Amino acid sequence: MTLENSRFLQAANCQPVDKTPIWLMRQAGRYMKVYRDLRAKHSMLEVINTPELAFEVTMQPINAFDLDAAIIFADILPPLIGMGFDLEFIKDVGPRIHNRVERPYDIDILATPPASEIMGPTLEAIKLVVAELTPRNIPLIGFAGAPFTLASYAVEGGGSKTYSRTKELMYTEPAAWIRLMDKLVTIQADYLIQQAKAGASALQIFDSWAGLALGKGDYIRYVKPFNTKLIDMVKKRTDVPIINFSTGTFPYLDEVAACGGDVVGADWRMPLDAAWDKIGHDRAIMGNLDPVSLLAPWRELKARIDDVLAQANGRSGHIFNLGHGIFPNTPTDNVRRLVDYVHEQTSK
Ligand code: CP3
Repeated sequence: MTLENSRFLQAANCQPVDKTPIWLMRQAGRYMKVYRDLRAKHSMLEVINTPELAFEVTMQPINAFDLDAAIIFADILPPLIGMGFDLEFIKDVGPRIHNRVERPYDIDILATPPASEIMGPTLEAIKLVVAELTPRNIPLIGFAGAPFTLASYAVEGGGSKTYSRTKELMYTEPAAWIRLMDKLVTIQADYLIQQAKAGASALQIFDSWAGLALGKGDYIRYVKPFNTKLIDMVKKRTDVPIINFSTGTFPYLDEVAACGGDVVGADWRMPLDAAWDKIGHDRAIMGNLDPVSLLAPWRELKARIDDVLAQANGRSGHIFNLGHGIFPNTPTDNVRRLVDYVHEQTSK
């Protein structure tokens, strides 16, 4: 069975749809009580590495809301474990890498094993979810981190406000930077291809921090060649749409779009119509309600949803989403209202 008639895939291909499709970044997570209950019993890596648990969490938002796509429950960071990094998710702190890259030698000893060896449980979880979703005509999105965003965790050892260690490495050891990014491209290309082979109907690349860390010149020099190569490699081996998502990149969104991707993500900082002008109307756009809107009363939330829909202007190729991940303190009633309202307002 194919999912070609799903409105998510139609919109990704810029075709007309019966209603605007909607899904939410980080739609499986702490804002849902069922998720918190499950996480109280299992660590983050346990959930990711147990296909039955990853299946269950992936399905939680699908069973609760009328969403048009699922996203496999995983994280962008586990492939780093397979390369040799010691990754830990620490409660109330976030991800930490205990053996971060400090010198070029640390890059040279990194491994690049195939996804079948290091990401088996996630590939297995994808198969379980696809078997459940295909009869319901709901596509599953696979995903991976873009090389810059992963490199920033590998070099900083965790999240960062300034990305100064990462930028110091790229400015002072440019050849080592290229070796690190090449290794990440190798790992991520195979991981994305294998997710499509396991049944994912679309693939999203998260370059969450590139735009917050880098100006246009640095993006073009240190990031763009690698994102372009990654997308090209995946495109050659799969036929599923690729979503190219980043944040803070509005000043050079045309350069982001030039890396490739059938759909380009717009974060919440930029007006959707201006972002679409930069991407080009022949390509689909995903976005871009400010996730904090979901904490506001309905009157305010509704006005903000109306604003995004007005900017999309009924044009084919809009996938409604938040402009970044949903907040853990989001009321589930607001999620339900958002999803239903977008469908109602855009119904043909
Ligand atoms: O529903 C989905 O969207 C799928 C699941 C998903 C997670 N992480 C689960 C998760 C996805 C797509 C990601 C991607 C991810 N992970 C990104 C890119 C997306 C973005 O927001 O830009 C990044 C930067 C990460 C790295 C990461 N993982 C951080 C910074 C954190 C801690 C931050 C936080 O919110 O606590 C994580 C942990 C994480 N990944 C959680 C979830 C649901 C919270 C874990 C928990 O305590 O239960």
